[in-house]
Amino acid sequence: MIAYRIKQFYWAIESLFIKDDFKMLNMYLSNLELSLFMKITKAERQHSIRVCKAAIEYIRSNNIHDIDEYIMCKCALLHDIGKSKVKLNIIYKSIIIIINKITFGKFLKYNKNTRIINYYNHPKIGVELLKVIGQENQDIIDCVRYHHNVDMLKENKYIEIVYICDNCN
Ligand SMILES: [Fe+2]
Ligand SMILES: [Fe+2]
Repeated sequence: MIAYRIKQFYWAIESLFIKDDFKMLNMYLSNLELSLFMKITKAERQHSIRVCKAAIEYIRSNNIHDIDEYIMCKCALLHDIGKSKVKLNIIYKSIIIIINKITFGKFLKYNKNTRIINYYNHPKIGVELLKVIGQENQDIIDCVRYHHNVDMLKENKYIEIVYICDNCN
């Protein structure tokens, strides 16, 4: 757990120095999707790119054929776009995540601070942003909406894979 937090902190610092992988972004995202993607912080963009690469690796190494790799990549890249409405720095975010773990999720659930409420609601905000650009693919919408919802993992393979890859990146 502590090792993973240190890794996350390292990734956040590293993201300041590495360039976005535009080859990958242009391959999987439309111009409108890319414009939403570019509104999240660089650290979040790098996180989403890692989730996308992990998802590709996951479906290839597990020989999963009932999944569209192109849609899978869109789901992974776009899953956190709702965070564009919440700009939290690395230290503040790390503290929130730790307190939330200690309080078994109650800290985020019952907090009254607008920035924290928005952070907690980023899946819902993400869906609203997708509606603005006219996103019609239900798997992408569901992934953005439910990627933190364990009860939905059995419902949709895309959500399950984003959930798995999100939690180790
Ligand atoms: Fe998320
Ligand atoms: Fe994420």
